[in-house]
Amino acid sequence: MTGRAEIYDEVSRQLASVLEGEGDRIARMATVSCLLAQAFPDNIWTGFYMVDRAKEDELVVGPYQGTLGCLRIPFAKGVCGAAARTGETQVVEDVHAFEGHIACDSRSVSEIVVPVRDPDGTLFAVLDIDNPEAGTFGETDRAALERLVADVFG
Ligand code: SME
Repeated sequence: MTGRAEIYDEVSRQLASVLEGEGDRIARMATVSCLLAQAFPDNIWTGFYMVDRAKEDELVVGPYQGTLGCLRIPFAKGVCGAAARTGETQVVEDVHAFEGHIACDSRSVSEIVVPVRDPDGTLFAVLDIDNPEAGTFGETDRAALERLVADVFG
């Protein structure tokens, strides 16, 4: 059985190949969402919330795969808001124990949210992944996803 780390490595290889020469950020986010969702089909939501520069401290939904996502999230709320506010990856074993969690899909039980920065180091999005089982995400996922977003967007 292929481990999570190996799956992330394969997704990164696919991304490097497919995205070669493609500079558009929306296209890159859409492709990351697609390939991660295909690689981990048990996840129920995989995608991005982007920093809305027209608003103060608010995220707006970007490219994603999965059930209907909330359109906007203030930095003060949710797991995504916590990642945007702190600049730190949020690995949540059980979202029901996370104060202020926003349930776009009631099936979500575990979640990981990774800050996404541009080459200047400026936060412009977060990568959000939800799963219906508790404790799905750990150090392997955090390290692999932080490396993946740095490779693709950094
Ligand atoms: N659960 C997230 C909201 C986004 S939906 O999961 C796609 C949060 O608490 O910020």
